[in-house]
This record gives sequence, C-alpha cells and structure tokens, in this order.
Amino acid sequence: TKNFLRHVESLNNIPSGAGKISQLNAVILGEALASEENDLVFPSKDFSNQALVPSPQKYLEMYKRSIEDPSGFWSDIASEFYWKKKWDEPVCSENLDVSKGNIDIKWFKGGITNISYNCLDRNIEAGLGDKIAIYWEGNELGVDATLTYSQLLQQVCQLANYLKDIGVKKGDAVVVYLPMLMELPITMLACARIGAVHSVVFAGFSAESLAQRITDCKPKAVITCNAVKRGPKVLDLKEIVDAGLTECAKNGISVDVCLTYENKSATDRESTKWQEGRDVWWQDVVPKYPTTCEVEWVDAEDPLFLLYTSGSTGKPKGVLHTTGGYMVYTATTFKYAFDYKPSDVYWCTADCGWITGHSYVTYGPMLNGATNIVFEGVPNYPDSGRCWDIVDKYKVTIFYTAPTLVRSLMRDGNEYVTRYSRKSLRVLGSVGEPINPSAWRWFFNVVGDSRCPISDTWWQTETGGFLITPLPGAWPQKPGSATFPFFGVQPVIVDEKGVEIEGECSGYLCVKASWPGAFRTLYGDHERYETTYFKPFPGYYFSGDGCSRDKDGYHWLTGRVDDVINVSGHRIGTAEVESALVSHPQCAEAAVVGVEHEVKGQGIYAFVTLVEGVPYSEELRKSLILAVRKQIGAFAAPDRIHWAPGLPKTRSGKIMRRILRKIASRQLDELGDISTLADPGVVDQLIALADT
Ligand code: WT7
Repeated sequence: TKNFLRHVESLNNIPSGAGKISQLNAVILGEALASEENDLVFPSKDFSNQALVPSPQKYLEMYKRSIEDPSGFWSDIASEFYWKKKWDEPVCSENLDVSKGNIDIKWFKGGITNISYNCLDRNIEAGLGDKIAIYWEGNELGVDATLTYSQLLQQVCQLANYLKDIGVKKGDAVVVYLPMLMELPITMLACARIGAVHSVVFAGFSAESLAQRITDCKPKAVITCNAVKRGPKVLDLKEIVDAGLTECAKNGISVDVCLTYENKSATDRESTKWQEGRDVWWQDVVPKYPTTCEVEWVDAEDPLFLLYTSGSTGKPKGVLHTTGGYMVYTATTFKYAFDYKPSDVYWCTADCGWITGHSYVTYGPMLNGATNIVFEGVPNYPDSGRCWDIVDKYKVTIFYTAPTLVRSLMRDGNEYVTRYSRKSLRVLGSVGEPINPSAWRWFFNVVGDSRCPISDTWWQTETGGFLITPLPGAWPQKPGSATFPFFGVQPVIVDEKGVEIEGECSGYLCVKASWPGAFRTLYGDHERYETTYFKPFPGYYFSGDGCSRDKDGYHWLTGRVDDVINVSGHRIGTAEVESALVSHPQCAEAAVVGVEHEVKGQGIYAFVTLVEGVPYSEELRKSLILAVRKQIGAFAAPDRIHWAPGLPKTRSGKIMRRILRKIASRQLDELGDISTLADPGVVDQLIALADT
C-alpha cells in the first residue's frame, strides 16, 4: 500500500481535465495496435469540475484517509444512515490470516439498523416521498409504470405484512424466482424489512438449479409469477417452479407457500397450473394488507441475503451477505463510482437475479434515493435500438451494462445507436468481465459521443460492491483498465508463493484487510469459504482473478486464473488475446482457451465470431493471427482459429469456456451439462465447424 500511495503521488502531475487526447483519434482511424497502456483518455474539464472527486489529488487524499484512518472514514459515511443503535466498533478488527485461526469478518459491530428502512423511510423523511423510485419499462413498447418512494414503501409494507402473516420470521429464508418486474425489488425490500433472508434465483435458471438452491436454504416461501415475455418469447416461470418444487419434494423438502404474481402481459390465470393449498395469487392477498409495517431492527451482522454463484466445482456456493457493512459499502461505491447526483436517472441493465442487480439495481441506488429503471425486456427487442430508445425516453444519465452487450450491439451496427439522441447520458459503466479496449472505445465514442467517462467496475458476487473502479472525473482513463482501488480497498498482486509483488507486475489478485461489503461465509459451508478464498494465499482474500499493474499503477484484470494460458513459459491472459482479436475490424467476438501442445506446453485456441456478413477465409484467418502478433507478440499468436457463428454463453452472458476447452481438445463426449446455456444449439454448430 505504501508503494501504491507513493506511486499515486507521483502521478499527481497528470493534468486532469486536459480534454480528449489525440491517441484516441488514431485509434478510431484504425491504428489500434498501439500499446493499450499508453492510451490516456481524459475527462473533460466540465465533467471534472462538477465531479464528486474532481482530481487525482482529491482521490489520493480520500484514499489515504480510508487506509490510514478507516474508523474515521467509515464512521463518517455510516453516520449518514439511520441506526437504531450505533455500532461499538466500525471497522473489522478480526483475524484475516487463516493460518492463525478462523475467518470471522465483522463490520459495525454492535450496530442495529435496517437496510429497507434506510432505502425507503429515511429518504421519504428527507423529502423524497414524491420522487420516482422506479420507472418500470415493460417488454413491449409503450408498456410502462412508475412508483414514487412513498408508493414503493406502501407496496413493500403490504408484502412484508403478508409474509409475517404466513409465518415468515427474522432469519427465515425466502426464495425469489421473478423476472424484472417492480415486484422483484419490492420483494427484496419486504424481506429485508422483516429481517427475512432473500435468496433470489435468476429467472433463467432451470428447474433443477432452482431445486438445488431451495434444497440448500429451505425457504418458508417461494415467490414467483406466472410467466414473462422476454423479447418475442413467453417463458412459463410457474411451470419451472412447479417442476423445481416437485424435485424438492423427492428430497423431502416441502415449501408451504408459493406466492405467484399474475403478470397479465404474458399469460393469464386460467392457463396457469395451480396447486391448491400451496399456491396463492399475489393480487388476491397482498393488496388487502396495511400499507404500513413496523421495521424489524436487525444486528449489523444479521444476514441480509444469500446468492448462489458457481465455483470451480459443481455445487453452487451460497454467498452470504450481512446487513450493516453491505449497506454502507453499496451506497458509497454507487455514489462515487457513478458520480451520483440527486438529479440523475440511473439505469443498470443487470437482472436482480445476479449480484449486480442486488447491489446496483436495488440497494446501492435506493440507499442514495436515486431514480432507477427496471427493464423487463431484452436489448434487441423489438430491435437493437431498444436501449437508446429507453435512454431517450427517460433521459437516462447513468447507463451501466456488461461488455457482452456492448460487443453485441457493436456488431449490429452504429445506425441503431446514432438514430437516438442520447444527449442525457453523462456516465457509462461496465461490469462482468474485462472490457476489450476496442469495445471500450466503441462504447465511449459511439454510445457516449466521446463525452462520458466509463466506470469499468471490477468486483465479484463475493465482494458485495466495487473493489477496483475508475471514479469518473478523477482520473484519466485507459481503455480496458479498471484503474485504481476504491476507498478502503488494498489490492495486492502476489506470485505463486503468495509473495506480494510491487510496481509493474502481474500475478494473482488478492486483497489485504477487509472492506465493509465483503461476504461473511458460504451458507452451510464455512470450511469451503476458508479453503477457497483464504487458504490459497494466507493473510489475503484471494479473488481467483489474474491482474497486472502497469508502470502508471493502473490495474488490468486478465480474467480468472483458471483461464490463464501458459505458452512456452509465457503467461498469456485469454482476455488479452481475445481483445487483440476483437480489435480486428472483422471480428465481432472471440473466446480463447488453452489446449495441450506438444512443444509449448499449451497452445492458444481461438473461437472467433465474425462481423455479420463477413465470409470465412484463409486470408482472414491469417490477418486475425497477425493482429494478435502485432498487439501482444509472436508468442501469443493463436495456434488455431475456429470459426464460431455463436459462442456458448450462460443466460447471464458469460462464455462457458469449460465447453470450449472440450471442443478445442475434441473431447466431444465430455461436454458435460450444456443445459444452462442460453442457446445449447451453438454447441452443435461449433462441432460442425471443427475441421473447417
Ligand atoms: C468475476 C466475478 C461483479 C458483478 C458481475 C460478475 C469478472 C467482473 C469485471 C471487470 C474484469 C471482471 C472477474 C470476477 N469481472 N467485473 N470490470 N473487469 N473482470 O460477478 O459472477 O461474481 O463474477 O467476473 O473475473 O472474478 P461474478
């Protein structure tokens, strides 16, 4: 950290607000093969002048305090929230070295609060009652709704009262399987209000996955809806829940109540299968309950939610987050990473079924009293201009999305974007995977008209909130770099032996000390928690990601370390090679995996999706390889290019490399479970093209 601070100090002479830089133009003109890390994109003077953190100097001052005086730093921030009883000790002072004992993280010890109260009642008391909390945009054009903070509170209270009435108590789990209806954040806030632990399962998971999660946390109730329309398709969610509950019953797990919201825009009651005694229509019961509901005050360390995520083994991990630290952390990261102002209209395209939707659709924005967009549909329905249509309709100022969406829209062509004004936009955000510099530039230049800083936020389900992220207005950006740590976060890069490496380097990304949003355990398996995250490098939290730090101290995430390829002793991040491929004008998307190689140890195998309409050719293959040689070096040249009309992705857009590795190594009988793919058909297409 000292080293980092020294380094940041030396950067103080970087002029902020120096306007756009010339390299960027060179890049747009196609000279994109210059070394990425020398590209600096400066925030405009106008932006920096109004920013919460307007300069590297200001960042440094705040960062320094957060590290040197964490108690003062976090106490000041936490004091902006309502605590029924103030904490005794704000900062985590527990042991974080697994070789010295168990890991038992605690923040704001002794504090008593409620996050739902802080999202709603507190903001309403401060005068935001009539402010729009949610603009809901339906799947179909022209179908929408709004909720003010006061209306949202009333709906939350009605559901909270209903849940209490059916016997849901503090500490009980509630499984939620809902699409992006307003009822999803309403449900989360209602659970939190009564101290129940929500476990939202993304409504794209199969019945089996749902059953696995229900079996693990044994909820008092399941909350779902009949069906949802996503683009032109109707998905019968209740049928999936029924199948999931049947599966659970086989394991002796029964759920007493399945509360079902009637989403009339998809299907109606009559066509919904029903189990009398268990199933209850939301609209029949919830509106009958009082619109006020007393808050259940909870300990700062009482559980807030469970969210299952995949690990390296088959069984999903139940990541457990608690109340106080998570509240303070999501609110603060939201505010600074997006330079949030009360007049903003914020849209995060993530689904509440993922951590991004928890921290940055529901909790972070609402703790700040923000106006939020909840979108039921998909970005390419009715056509690929839908996002920008929504941006113009609601005058969205902050737009937060994933690189996979950026790349797919980039592929569809600029006309879909430029057709809309997008004048309201002022900050863009990216999350989920490293964003390729070429996608970054398209996002910056085309979507943001070269005006909006991009917050490339690096974090994980486990971290609760952003750990490494640009603060817009503070720093010159480098396309593809997540830049610098958030306040209070001490990222370190270690070698295989767990020794910290300083300066310009690459290695395993770990975090020293704790931050308030950290998860506290894996539900029911604290041993796996310690083994996975704390034992690999004792003394640190291990992220599972590779990272390099350049000469200017910027952090470059290189992907999961399980995706790192070692070619002739050179460590190559799959993301690096992909980024080089995608920078080729005819490449839309690429996924790279390692395959066994007789001489080099591992060879580089690249799956490449071309821009619409571009034919496969030997010549193109060569020029793609050349792009990688030029951008990274000859050692990184792919050994093979495999044409890919599509890539196997999960419904959340993550490429399933496990499947690609098997195809690359022709272990076609070992593909494993492909049922969680958004489109399992791409696997056959890939196999058919294997030897072309
Ligand atoms: C993994 C965590 C955190 C919300 C969504 C994903 C990768 C995430 C970035 C980024 C590079 C990123 C990492 C991380 N990742 N954001 N901005 N740059 N990589 O949550 O499913 O828990 O996945 O996503 O590899 O470990 P998740």
